[in-house]
Amino acid sequence: MKQLFPVSFKNFSFPNSRGLFLPGIAVIGAQFGDEGKGKLTDFLAEKADYVVRFQGGNNAGHTLVVDGRQLKLHLLPSGVIYKKKLMIGAGVALDPRVLEEELELLDGDGVDLVIDPRTHIILPWHNVLDEVMESAHGEKHIGTTKRGIGPCYADRALRTGIRFEDLVEETRLKEKINALYPVKKSIIENAYSGKFTHSPESIFSEYARLGKKFAHYLGDVSFKAGEALDQKKTVLFEGAQGAFLDLDFGTYPYVTSSHPLSGGIAIGVGISVNRVERVIGVCKAYTTRVGEGPFPTELTDGLGSRLRDMGAEFGTTTGRPRRVGWLDLPMLRLSQRLNGFTELAVTKLDVLNGMGKLKVAVSYTCFGKEVKFFPYSDHSVQHAKPKYVELNGFEFNTEQIK
Ligand code: IMP
Repeated sequence: MKQLFPVSFKNFSFPNSRGLFLPGIAVIGAQFGDEGKGKLTDFLAEKADYVVRFQGGNNAGHTLVVDGRQLKLHLLPSGVIYKKKLMIGAGVALDPRVLEEELELLDGDGVDLVIDPRTHIILPWHNVLDEVMESAHGEKHIGTTKRGIGPCYADRALRTGIRFEDLVEETRLKEKINALYPVKKSIIENAYSGKFTHSPESIFSEYARLGKKFAHYLGDVSFKAGEALDQKKTVLFEGAQGAFLDLDFGTYPYVTSSHPLSGGIAIGVGISVNRVERVIGVCKAYTTRVGEGPFPTELTDGLGSRLRDMGAEFGTTTGRPRRVGWLDLPMLRLSQRLNGFTELAVTKLDVLNGMGKLKVAVSYTCFGKEVKFFPYSDHSVQHAKPKYVELNGFEFNTEQIK
């Protein structure tokens, strides 16, 4: 596996080291999300023809600096500042209110965007359900971003979702809102003792307006992405979150409701699995996690607080302090198995500068046995004790390293 250096991407080129031009390239989080994918995605987006999101929604966060102005984007693909062709695939949970805000922030004109008709839409009841369901979980809450992501994907699985094709078609939109409204209101108010103050008319009028405004973005992303790859265009698939937040292979139930793994690209875009030739995993030189769930190498002491401060580990979307811990190789081994990384980019190595002795988990002891991979069941993860090697730290300016 080739190593990408975090500070300088100088050695990186699109025709890869074997001289082959590989159009399908993905950036995937190898840990619990927030690995610093944005930095690499930005670098690659500038050179790509298309940037495609295939999962997640505005639970993700990405800070950009445009003309000295800091912009926080959550939904739009990264290439937006380079005026690239952008696509939002069927696997995304799309909040059109957030799309409007982000386009306004960027003075939206001239954004070249295609949204798949199959993309599911986040409605106000999804946000409220996310809130009330988290409260009902009490101590066992997941620590979601409260953006309505889980409830939106749940409707997709139940086959009661509203898709982008419905948003842009008033009659269908009205029918679907009217049919779903009493059910959602009743679940929020009767099952969860919450309050749902929106009326069906107000939801319809806001969403119909957004549908009209965004109708020109409608297009078959599955077809267009496939066509771009056939034409040997460079298509960058931008992952959000990370491997261990995957709905099935992450630390269930403390996961998101989509598939951030490289395998999620095929289904989230509608292309075949062999179209992505280059899968770049991104991991931090240590580990972080936002929200609840197991974290075997977590540091809950003063060293952890120091690492959090040095790495500015606070969430882009919710501002929550991230939990921090040592680098976990059993996690990365499993991540590699699940994602098939062709390269690994290690970020934030400089944060460890001056930390003193560094620890790296190389295996776990689990029910008396040594295991090399992150355990597959939640129960085993709870009982896994990391086995560390201790390394000498370093104290020098990493910025000049090539
Ligand atoms: P949800 O995606 O809002 O449902 O949140 C489910 C879990 O995924 C929570 O633990 C969140 O903190 C976590 N999560 C969601 N998006 C991100 C992200 O972009 N980075 C890191 N964690 C995330």
